[in-house]
Amino acid sequence: SSASSLLDSPSSSPPNLHYVGKKEEIVKAGRVTKLLNGCRDVLILYHDRQLYAMDKRCYHSGGELQHGDIEEFNGRLCIVCPWHKYKITLAEGEGLYQAVDDPTKKPLKTHWRSKGVKQRIHKVTEVNGDVFVSLNKSCAAIESDFYQTEKYRTVPLKS
Ligand code: FES
Repeated sequence: SSASSLLDSPSSSPPNLHYVGKKEEIVKAGRVTKLLNGCRDVLILYHDRQLYAMDKRCYHSGGELQHGDIEEFNGRLCIVCPWHKYKITLAEGEGLYQAVDDPTKKPLKTHWRSKGVKQRIHKVTEVNGDVFVSLNKSCAAIESDFYQTEKYRTVPLKS
């Protein structure tokens, strides 16, 4: 094969970039869910002039995060899972928990701490009003991966 045909294929193959809709539609809806690449259920959400994308099902037990409220904890924006109220930071996918400073002191003083990244976050890009998500393919396991198997995933519509 010639050098030119070798050069052709990698540059013309699409990168890991999935079109998820027009920005104005996502802004209006606030939340959109998409099955990307036939294998990943992703929630795209718009909050406070910012777009975010993450695995749709909560790392704890598979709750559907598109129905969660957005609240701030320690100045960090979180989606609150509608099932058992776990808090997940929008930007990093960290699970937050409420720690008690000193259990012997009353009244108890609590504050929010991170359990580390639990929910897989994906990258959102906007180009001329079109929104794209690139799936986070990092090999390190993240707990929300568990709910991205065939058992839990959205079944693609057959035509
Ligand atoms: Fe989300 Fe339990 S499934 S908090």
